[in-house]
Amino acid sequence: MPDLFEILSKLTGAFGPSGREDEISRAICELSKPYSDGVYTDALGNLIVRKKGNGKKIMLSAHMDTIGFAVTYIEESGLIRFGAVGGLDREQLAGARVRFSNGVKGVLSFEEKMDAKDRTLNHFFIDIGARSKTEAEKAVKIGDFAVFDGTEVLNGDSLISRYLDNRLGCAVLITALSGIKSTKNDLYFVFSSQEEVGLRGAQTAAFQINADMALAVDVTSTGDLPGLKDKMAVKLGEGPAVKIADRSVICSPDVSELLRRNAESLKIKVQNEIMMAGGTDAGAIQRSRNGVLTGGVSIPTRYIHTPNEMASLSDSVDAARLIAYTVSR
Ligand code: CO
Ligand code: ZN
Repeated sequence: MPDLFEILSKLTGAFGPSGREDEISRAICELSKPYSDGVYTDALGNLIVRKKGNGKKIMLSAHMDTIGFAVTYIEESGLIRFGAVGGLDREQLAGARVRFSNGVKGVLSFEEKMDAKDRTLNHFFIDIGARSKTEAEKAVKIGDFAVFDGTEVLNGDSLISRYLDNRLGCAVLITALSGIKSTKNDLYFVFSSQEEVGLRGAQTAAFQINADMALAVDVTSTGDLPGLKDKMAVKLGEGPAVKIADRSVICSPDVSELLRRNAESLKIKVQNEIMMAGGTDAGAIQRSRNGVLTGGVSIPTRYIHTPNEMASLSDSVDAARLIAYTVSR
Protein backbone atom coordinates (compact mmCIF):
# COMPACT_ATOMS: atom_id res chain seq x y z
CA MET A 1 0.00 0.00 0.00
CA PRO A 2 1.30 3.49 -0.80
CA ASP A 3 1.80 5.94 2.07
CA LEU A 4 -1.52 7.53 3.03
CA PHE A 5 0.03 10.78 4.26
CA GLU A 6 1.91 11.14 0.98
CA ILE A 7 -1.33 10.70 -0.99
CA LEU A 8 -3.10 13.15 1.31
CA SER A 9 -0.40 15.79 0.78
CA LYS A 10 -0.86 15.56 -2.99
CA LEU A 11 -4.62 15.95 -2.61
CA THR A 12 -4.81 18.79 -0.07
CA GLY A 13 -2.55 20.87 -2.31
CA ALA A 14 -4.85 20.56 -5.33
CA PHE A 15 -7.38 23.32 -6.05
CA GLY A 16 -11.01 22.16 -6.06
CA PRO A 17 -13.84 24.17 -4.52
CA SER A 18 -17.35 22.90 -5.40
CA GLY A 19 -17.97 23.21 -9.14
CA ARG A 20 -14.26 23.74 -9.89
CA GLU A 21 -12.93 20.21 -9.42
CA ASP A 22 -10.71 19.91 -12.53
CA GLU A 23 -7.36 20.09 -10.77
CA ILE A 24 -8.23 17.76 -7.88
CA SER A 25 -9.88 15.35 -10.33
CA ARG A 26 -6.66 15.12 -12.38
CA ALA A 27 -4.62 14.51 -9.22
CA ILE A 28 -6.90 11.68 -8.06
CA CYS A 29 -7.01 10.19 -11.55
CA GLU A 30 -3.22 10.02 -11.68
CA LEU A 31 -2.97 8.37 -8.25
CA SER A 32 -5.74 5.79 -8.73
CA LYS A 33 -5.29 4.82 -12.39
CA PRO A 34 -2.49 2.27 -11.79
CA TYR A 35 -4.82 0.23 -9.54
CA SER A 36 -7.96 0.50 -11.67
CA ASP A 37 -9.65 -1.08 -14.68
CA GLY A 38 -10.60 2.28 -16.17
CA VAL A 39 -11.44 5.83 -15.20
CA TYR A 40 -14.05 8.23 -16.53
CA THR A 41 -15.75 11.53 -15.69
CA ASP A 42 -19.29 12.78 -16.18
CA ALA A 43 -20.98 16.09 -16.94
CA LEU A 44 -21.15 17.15 -13.29
CA GLY A 45 -17.43 16.57 -12.82
CA ASN A 46 -17.59 13.30 -10.87
CA LEU A 47 -14.52 11.11 -11.33
CA ILE A 48 -15.42 7.41 -11.45
CA VAL A 49 -12.73 4.78 -11.02
CA ARG A 50 -13.63 1.17 -11.85
CA LYS A 51 -12.42 -2.06 -10.33
CA LYS A 52 -14.29 -4.79 -12.14
CA GLY A 53 -15.84 -7.94 -10.71
CA ASN A 54 -18.75 -10.23 -11.56
CA GLY A 55 -20.81 -9.86 -8.39
CA LYS A 56 -22.96 -7.09 -6.92
CA LYS A 57 -22.48 -3.49 -7.92
CA ILE A 58 -21.03 -1.43 -5.08
CA MET A 59 -20.63 2.34 -5.18
CA LEU A 60 -18.05 3.97 -2.93
CA SER A 61 -18.23 7.71 -2.68
CA ALA A 62 -15.86 10.34 -1.29
CA HIS A 63 -16.47 13.95 -2.25
CA MET A 64 -13.42 15.69 -3.68
CA ASP A 65 -14.75 19.26 -3.61
CA THR A 66 -14.01 21.67 -0.77
CA ILE A 67 -15.66 24.72 0.73
CA GLY A 68 -14.35 28.03 -0.52
CA PHE A 69 -15.08 31.59 -1.62
CA ALA A 70 -16.51 33.13 -4.81
CA VAL A 71 -15.71 36.75 -5.70
CA THR A 72 -18.91 38.81 -5.87
CA TYR A 73 -17.65 42.42 -5.83
CA ILE A 74 -14.42 44.42 -5.84
CA GLU A 75 -14.33 47.64 -3.80
CA GLU A 76 -12.70 50.89 -5.07
CA SER A 77 -10.07 50.24 -2.39
CA GLY A 78 -9.16 46.92 -3.98
CA LEU A 79 -10.69 44.82 -1.18
CA ILE A 80 -12.63 41.80 -2.43
CA ARG A 81 -16.12 40.78 -1.29
CA PHE A 82 -17.15 37.15 -1.61
CA GLY A 83 -19.97 34.68 -1.27
CA ALA A 84 -19.76 31.29 0.43
CA VAL A 85 -19.11 28.12 -1.49
CA GLY A 86 -20.47 25.59 1.02
CA GLY A 87 -20.75 26.02 4.79
CA LEU A 88 -18.27 28.63 5.99
CA ASP A 89 -17.84 29.04 9.74
CA ARG A 90 -17.74 32.83 10.24
CA GLU A 91 -16.00 32.53 13.60
CA GLN A 92 -13.08 30.72 12.00
CA LEU A 93 -12.44 32.92 8.96
CA ALA A 94 -10.56 35.98 10.19
CA GLY A 95 -6.83 35.77 9.66
CA ALA A 96 -6.97 32.78 7.34
CA ARG A 97 -4.93 32.85 4.16
CA VAL A 98 -6.66 32.05 0.87
CA ARG A 99 -5.47 31.16 -2.62
CA PHE A 100 -7.07 31.68 -6.03
CA SER A 101 -6.66 29.15 -8.85
CA ASN A 102 -4.09 31.40 -10.57
CA GLY A 103 -1.92 31.33 -7.43
CA VAL A 104 -2.82 34.81 -6.12
CA LYS A 105 -2.99 34.79 -2.31
CA GLY A 106 -4.85 36.95 0.15
CA VAL A 107 -5.87 37.40 3.79
CA LEU A 108 -9.40 37.08 5.14
CA SER A 109 -10.50 39.88 7.45
CA PHE A 110 -13.67 41.70 8.57
CA GLU A 111 -15.13 45.08 9.43
CA GLU A 112 -14.15 45.63 13.05
CA LYS A 113 -17.05 47.92 13.92
CA MET A 114 -19.58 45.12 13.54
CA ASP A 115 -20.50 43.18 16.67
CA ALA A 116 -19.37 39.58 16.31
CA LYS A 117 -22.95 38.35 16.55
CA ASP A 118 -24.15 40.61 13.70
CA ARG A 119 -21.13 39.93 11.55
CA THR A 120 -22.46 38.20 8.46
CA LEU A 121 -20.34 37.21 5.49
CA ASN A 122 -21.10 40.63 3.96
CA HIS A 123 -18.82 42.16 6.56
CA PHE A 124 -15.84 40.05 5.56
CA PHE A 125 -13.40 40.72 2.74
CA ILE A 126 -10.31 39.23 1.09
CA ASP A 127 -7.28 41.52 1.00
CA ILE A 128 -4.77 40.59 -1.71
CA GLY A 129 -2.73 43.73 -1.02
CA ALA A 130 -4.01 45.58 -4.10
CA ARG A 131 -4.06 49.39 -3.65
CA SER A 132 -7.05 49.99 -5.94
CA LYS A 133 -9.87 48.31 -7.80
CA THR A 134 -7.88 48.50 -11.05
CA GLU A 135 -4.91 46.79 -9.45
CA ALA A 136 -7.11 44.09 -7.87
CA GLU A 137 -8.84 43.40 -11.18
CA LYS A 138 -5.49 42.57 -12.77
CA ALA A 139 -5.27 39.59 -10.40
CA VAL A 140 -8.85 38.54 -9.65
CA LYS A 141 -12.15 38.69 -11.55
CA ILE A 142 -15.78 38.53 -10.47
CA GLY A 143 -16.72 34.86 -10.30
CA ASP A 144 -13.22 33.61 -9.48
CA PHE A 145 -13.06 31.02 -6.71
CA ALA A 146 -10.61 30.83 -3.80
CA VAL A 147 -9.77 28.18 -1.19
CA PHE A 148 -7.95 28.08 2.15
CA ASP A 149 -4.18 28.07 1.70
CA GLY A 150 -1.72 26.25 3.95
CA THR A 151 0.40 23.15 4.43
CA GLU A 152 -0.28 19.73 5.88
CA VAL A 153 1.41 18.50 9.03
CA LEU A 154 1.86 15.09 10.66
CA ASN A 155 2.39 15.32 14.45
CA GLY A 156 2.93 11.74 15.59
CA ASP A 157 -0.40 10.15 14.64
CA SER A 158 -2.24 13.47 14.21
CA LEU A 159 -2.86 15.01 10.80
CA ILE A 160 -3.37 18.77 10.67
CA SER A 161 -4.44 20.38 7.40
CA ARG A 162 -7.05 22.38 5.59
CA TYR A 163 -9.49 20.21 3.70
CA LEU A 164 -9.19 16.93 5.53
CA ASP A 165 -12.92 17.31 4.67
CA ASN A 166 -12.81 15.45 2.42
CA ARG A 167 -9.42 14.98 0.83
CA LEU A 168 -8.78 12.55 3.68
CA GLY A 169 -11.78 10.49 2.54
CA CYS A 170 -10.37 10.55 -1.00
CA ALA A 171 -6.94 9.42 0.27
CA VAL A 172 -8.66 6.61 2.22
CA LEU A 173 -10.50 5.44 -0.93
CA ILE A 174 -7.33 5.51 -3.06
CA THR A 175 -5.52 3.54 -0.34
CA ALA A 176 -8.39 1.02 -0.17
CA LEU A 177 -8.38 0.65 -3.96
CA SER A 178 -4.63 0.05 -3.99
CA GLY A 179 -5.10 -2.77 -1.48
CA ILE A 180 -7.64 -4.68 -3.59
CA LYS A 181 -5.89 -7.25 -5.77
CA SER A 182 -9.08 -8.91 -7.00
CA THR A 183 -12.74 -8.40 -6.18
CA LYS A 184 -15.88 -10.52 -6.32
CA ASN A 185 -18.03 -7.40 -6.52
CA ASP A 186 -18.16 -4.83 -9.29
CA LEU A 187 -16.71 -1.66 -7.77
CA TYR A 188 -17.29 1.99 -8.64
CA PHE A 189 -15.07 4.40 -6.71
CA VAL A 190 -16.75 7.77 -7.08
CA PHE A 191 -14.84 10.95 -6.27
CA SER A 192 -17.88 13.15 -6.22
CA SER A 193 -18.29 16.81 -7.07
CA GLN A 194 -20.31 19.55 -5.34
CA GLU A 195 -21.02 17.74 -2.06
CA GLU A 196 -20.48 20.86 0.01
CA VAL A 197 -23.29 22.69 -1.79
CA GLY A 198 -25.86 19.89 -1.43
CA LEU A 199 -24.66 16.38 -2.36
CA ARG A 200 -25.11 17.18 -6.04
CA GLY A 201 -22.45 15.04 -7.72
CA ALA A 202 -23.30 11.92 -5.71
CA GLN A 203 -26.93 12.28 -6.72
CA THR A 204 -26.29 11.96 -10.46
CA ALA A 205 -23.49 9.40 -10.03
CA ALA A 206 -25.78 7.17 -7.96
CA PHE A 207 -28.48 7.34 -10.63
CA GLN A 208 -26.04 6.40 -13.34
CA ILE A 209 -24.37 3.54 -11.45
CA ASN A 210 -27.59 2.04 -10.05
CA ALA A 211 -25.70 0.17 -7.31
CA ASP A 212 -26.86 -2.71 -5.08
CA MET A 213 -25.03 -1.25 -2.11
CA ALA A 214 -23.12 1.94 -1.34
CA LEU A 215 -20.64 3.31 1.17
CA ALA A 216 -19.96 7.01 1.66
CA VAL A 217 -16.56 7.96 3.07
CA ASP A 218 -16.23 11.34 4.72
CA VAL A 219 -15.09 13.04 7.90
CA THR A 220 -17.32 13.25 10.96
CA SER A 221 -17.29 15.53 13.99
CA THR A 222 -15.97 14.47 17.37
CA GLY A 223 -17.19 15.06 20.91
CA ASP A 224 -13.78 15.17 22.54
CA LEU A 225 -13.33 18.95 23.02
CA PRO A 226 -14.47 21.10 25.97
CA GLY A 227 -17.64 23.19 25.71
CA LEU A 228 -19.09 21.71 22.54
CA LYS A 229 -22.70 22.50 21.61
CA ASP A 230 -23.63 18.87 20.96
CA LYS A 231 -22.63 15.87 23.04
CA MET A 232 -21.11 13.24 20.77
CA ALA A 233 -19.40 9.97 21.65
CA VAL A 234 -16.91 9.89 18.76
CA LYS A 235 -13.24 10.49 19.64
CA LEU A 236 -10.12 11.19 17.62
CA GLY A 237 -7.81 8.16 17.43
CA GLU A 238 -10.34 5.59 18.68
CA GLY A 239 -10.80 4.05 15.24
CA PRO A 240 -12.88 4.80 12.15
CA ALA A 241 -16.58 5.44 12.73
CA VAL A 242 -19.38 3.30 11.34
CA LYS A 243 -22.14 5.68 10.38
CA ILE A 244 -25.53 5.07 11.96
CA ALA A 245 -27.06 8.38 10.91
CA ASP A 246 -26.45 12.03 10.14
CA ARG A 247 -28.77 14.83 9.10
CA SER A 248 -29.06 13.47 5.56
CA VAL A 249 -29.37 9.73 6.16
CA ILE A 250 -30.35 6.89 8.43
CA CYS A 251 -28.08 4.11 7.25
CA SER A 252 -29.23 0.61 6.43
CA PRO A 253 -28.65 -1.37 9.67
CA ASP A 254 -27.47 -4.36 7.62
CA VAL A 255 -24.64 -2.33 6.11
CA SER A 256 -23.58 -0.93 9.49
CA GLU A 257 -23.68 -4.44 10.98
CA LEU A 258 -21.60 -5.85 8.11
CA LEU A 259 -18.96 -3.15 8.70
CA ARG A 260 -18.85 -3.85 12.43
CA ARG A 261 -18.55 -7.61 11.86
CA ASN A 262 -15.72 -7.12 9.37
CA ALA A 263 -13.95 -4.73 11.73
CA GLU A 264 -14.06 -7.46 14.36
CA SER A 265 -12.57 -10.02 11.94
CA LEU A 266 -9.79 -7.56 11.09
CA LYS A 267 -9.32 -6.63 14.79
CA ILE A 268 -9.97 -2.99 13.96
CA LYS A 269 -11.50 -0.82 16.68
CA VAL A 270 -14.55 1.09 15.40
CA GLN A 271 -16.97 3.63 16.88
CA ASN A 272 -20.65 4.24 16.19
CA GLU A 273 -21.37 7.60 14.61
CA ILE A 274 -24.49 9.69 14.94
CA MET A 275 -23.73 13.18 13.66
CA MET A 276 -26.37 15.81 14.38
CA ALA A 277 -24.77 18.52 12.23
CA GLY A 278 -24.24 18.09 8.51
CA GLY A 279 -25.01 15.49 5.87
CA THR A 280 -23.00 13.31 3.51
CA ASP A 281 -23.15 11.76 0.05
CA ALA A 282 -24.86 8.80 1.77
CA GLY A 283 -28.09 10.81 1.93
CA ALA A 284 -28.21 11.41 -1.82
CA ILE A 285 -27.19 7.87 -2.76
CA GLN A 286 -29.73 6.16 -0.49
CA ARG A 287 -32.63 8.01 -2.17
CA SER A 288 -31.52 7.29 -5.72
CA ARG A 289 -33.90 5.35 -8.03
CA ASN A 290 -35.68 2.62 -6.00
CA GLY A 291 -33.42 3.23 -3.03
CA VAL A 292 -29.93 1.87 -2.36
CA LEU A 293 -28.67 -0.02 0.71
CA THR A 294 -26.31 2.60 2.04
CA GLY A 295 -23.80 2.90 4.86
CA GLY A 296 -20.86 5.07 5.72
CA VAL A 297 -17.34 4.92 7.09
CA SER A 298 -16.22 8.19 8.64
CA ILE A 299 -12.95 9.61 9.92
CA PRO A 300 -13.33 11.42 13.26
CA THR A 301 -12.13 14.99 12.67
CA ARG A 302 -11.85 18.09 14.86
CA TYR A 303 -12.42 21.66 13.65
CA ILE A 304 -14.24 20.66 10.45
CA HIS A 305 -14.64 23.51 7.93
CA THR A 306 -11.82 25.56 9.47
CA PRO A 307 -8.37 26.18 7.93
CA ASN A 308 -6.84 23.65 10.34
CA GLU A 309 -8.76 20.41 10.69
CA MET A 310 -7.31 17.52 12.71
CA ALA A 311 -7.65 13.76 12.33
CA SER A 312 -5.78 10.56 13.14
CA LEU A 313 -3.57 8.81 10.59
CA SER A 314 -4.18 5.38 12.16
CA ASP A 315 -7.98 5.88 12.08
CA SER A 316 -7.59 6.65 8.36
CA VAL A 317 -5.38 3.64 7.58
CA ASP A 318 -7.80 1.36 9.46
CA ALA A 319 -10.74 2.86 7.53
CA ALA A 320 -8.99 1.98 4.25
CA ARG A 321 -8.39 -1.61 5.41
CA LEU A 322 -11.98 -2.03 6.57
CA ILE A 323 -13.37 -0.66 3.31
CA ALA A 324 -11.11 -2.76 1.06
CA TYR A 325 -12.02 -5.94 2.98
CA THR A 326 -15.76 -5.17 3.01
CA VAL A 327 -16.31 -4.31 -0.64
CA SER A 328 -14.07 -6.95 -2.23
CA ARG A 329 -15.91 -9.99 -0.75
CO1 CO B 1 -17.68 19.46 4.52
ZN1 ZN C 1 -17.33 16.32 3.82
